[in-house]
Amino acid sequence: MTMMTSPPTLFAILSLALIALLAPPTSGDESSRTDVVALIALKQSLSDPDHYLATWDPNSAHACGWDYITCDIFGRVTTVDLGVKNLSGELVPQLGNLTALQYLDLYSNSIRGGFPPELGRLSNLIAMDLSNNNLSGPIPESFGNLVELEYLRVNDNPGLEGVIPLAVVTLPNLLVLDINNTHLRLP
Ligand SMILES: *[C@@H]1O[C@H](CO)[C@@H](O)[C@H](O)[C@H]1NC(C)=O
Ligand SMILES: *[C@@H]1O[C@H](CO)[C@@H](O)[C@H](O)[C@H]1NC(C)=O
Ligand SMILES: *[C@@H]1O[C@H](CO)[C@@H](O)[C@H](O)[C@H]1NC(C)=O
Ligand SMILES: *[C@@H]1O[C@H](CO)[C@@H](O)[C@H](O)[C@H]1NC(C)=O
Repeated sequence: MTMMTSPPTLFAILSLALIALLAPPTSGDESSRTDVVALIALKQSLSDPDHYLATWDPNSAHACGWDYITCDIFGRVTTVDLGVKNLSGELVPQLGNLTALQYLDLYSNSIRGGFPPELGRLSNLIAMDLSNNNLSGPIPESFGNLVELEYLRVNDNPGLEGVIPLAVVTLPNLLVLDINNTHLRLP
């Protein structure tokens, strides 16, 4: 009698085990949602007349299926690839919560305003390209915490000004610092 129910029960248990194996680790879920919240804050701050950000859904559990986003195996965002997308508006402090981010590409848009100091929390960042936008103000002191940074391209933002912090110029892995056509000065 019990044999009648056992096979489906066993099947159900095996299915659940398989689902558990295929799903991203539970420990990553909360951070994946934090990434979603951060990127939605960016989307809301930007004007996107050509609808490049149409797949960015605030209800997503993670951002990994979105256009122009790449994730690691834990469901954390590693790449934001939005060069030449006709975007205008400002960067947001929430970007500092994308703590697995390695590549931030927003070159050749019309982004204005300043760098949020919170970007200095991106301790895994390898490359930031915000060249050819309309950014203004200084490079924040906090960028001196970007210990993995190799490429910092902020050229062609004439509104950028001030002295670049010494801690940025001396970052241990920095290979390229492009400040052409800005009013930034070396320390
Ligand atoms: C960029 O957006 C503006 C509207 O803000 C539109 O008029 C223009 O055609 C767009 N340019 C491209 C290259 O898509
Ligand atoms: C993300 O960043 C913002 C601004 O820096 C902050 O207010 C927010 O509490 C952070 N954390 C989460 C989980 O969104
Ligand atoms: C940059 O911003 C200034 C002032 O906000 C504006 O006059 C200028 O046209 C902008 N330039 C570009 C390339 O968007
Ligand atoms: C800045 O511009 C000069 C002259 O156009 C060029 O030679 C140099 O390679 C540029 N710097 C970088 C870091 O690309």
